[in-house]
Amino acid sequence: MSDATRGRTRQDWIAAPGRSLRGEVRVPGDKSVSHRAVMLGALAEGVTEIHGFLEGEDTRATARIFSQLGVRIETPEATRCTVHGVGLHGLQGTDAALDCGNAGTGMRLLAGVLAGQAFDSVLVGDASLSKRPMRRVTEPLATMGARIRTGTDGVPPLQITGGQALHGIDYALPVASAQVKSAVLLAGLYADGETIVREPHPTRDYTERMLAAFGWPIEFGPGIARLGGGHRLRATRVDVPADFSSAAYFLVAASVVPGSELRLAAVGMNPRRTGLLQALRLMGADIREENPCDNGGEPVADLVVRHAPLHGIEVPEALVPDMIDEFPALFVAAACASGTTVVRGAAELRVKESDRIASMAAGLRTLGIAIRETPDGAVIEGGRFGGGSIDSHGDHRIAMSFAVAAQLAGGEVRINDIANVATSFPGFVELATGVGLGIAAPSAS
Ligand code: S3P
Repeated sequence: MSDATRGRTRQDWIAAPGRSLRGEVRVPGDKSVSHRAVMLGALAEGVTEIHGFLEGEDTRATARIFSQLGVRIETPEATRCTVHGVGLHGLQGTDAALDCGNAGTGMRLLAGVLAGQAFDSVLVGDASLSKRPMRRVTEPLATMGARIRTGTDGVPPLQITGGQALHGIDYALPVASAQVKSAVLLAGLYADGETIVREPHPTRDYTERMLAAFGWPIEFGPGIARLGGGHRLRATRVDVPADFSSAAYFLVAASVVPGSELRLAAVGMNPRRTGLLQALRLMGADIREENPCDNGGEPVADLVVRHAPLHGIEVPEALVPDMIDEFPALFVAAACASGTTVVRGAAELRVKESDRIASMAAGLRTLGIAIRETPDGAVIEGGRFGGGSIDSHGDHRIAMSFAVAAQLAGGEVRINDIANVATSFPGFVELATGVGLGIAAPSAS
């Protein structure tokens, strides 16, 4: 088990209706961008300054791993990170296991980077990450010439044998996954020849954009990316936008709590991330975009959300990859809506930090909502929440989604095992209670 969670005290929240949500919220930096900025900064030549860095446990785990591999990383302030790059071939091996904590992104992308090193390494994770499928990355990496052993059933730890000659591949992803795409592209930096990745549906393209920003020749468009090995990464400044996935809880909360009007400042609006916005608008949500601008190549905007009655929808399957992390929040919106909401084509939810279809279905049922699970989604009937005790399964997004649901509950909602909220959203309780949500500060149980 990972050091990050060993011996950690189990924490719960007590959540109950607060007041109408009012004011302005600035959510922390984007997790996906922060991971990639540390990785590419470490492999670049020169000093990379990251502004708006997410100081969450997941991204700190990635930074810690690069420190173990000989990269000097400073955090002069909470949201700034200075990475003294060692160049593509400058990492130094270590005998110690590299602990990714809860972070699937960290482990899968690192598998791609470490497959190309001269030294051996071992990647481990916490209890949740230790159950997540890794063959989706080890198989294409093996086709490139990498040697990686997984645990039984293809789960971590990953034992990576260095010193392998990698070669480029033309790989059609069986599932839409930015993590798998990124692992293959990062291994492609070390490969002979061209690496091409084709996706069944376009996914977030931060790796591609950031490789280009660090000066690596790459061609990419929706659903395809292509690069060759043998170039250099040059340090640059990275401006991390606020994480749309963290904003999602506030979008849903202000939509469903009567009397709310909330401004979410400077939220990252990459179209591969904002599927929830479209889904909520189809449900009748009142969300305006203001002050759109460009933040270091990423679109950002203020989002002004007002309470509005929501109605159920069939979530368009084409939106699924663009809102893959937002389904727990969407399930809560659906439970507050009039009528039925149908989610299909989202089987990937079953292999996230928890089985998010099962975790949400169990919790919503506890609160009195009628929900039917399907293999790749759910059918949710809008209704009224009672109180109850919810198991978050140690999944940050389940915990925060039920904190939102509790704002309309008829009784107190106890949300168990919330410590992992710090993986993606440190300071969630303070920000949320500051604008009106009713959540008691974590207390040891
Ligand atoms: C991520 C990709 C998605 C997402 C995860 C972050 C990334 O995972 O769920 O939270 O940063 O590339 P998949 O690639 O497994 O869909």
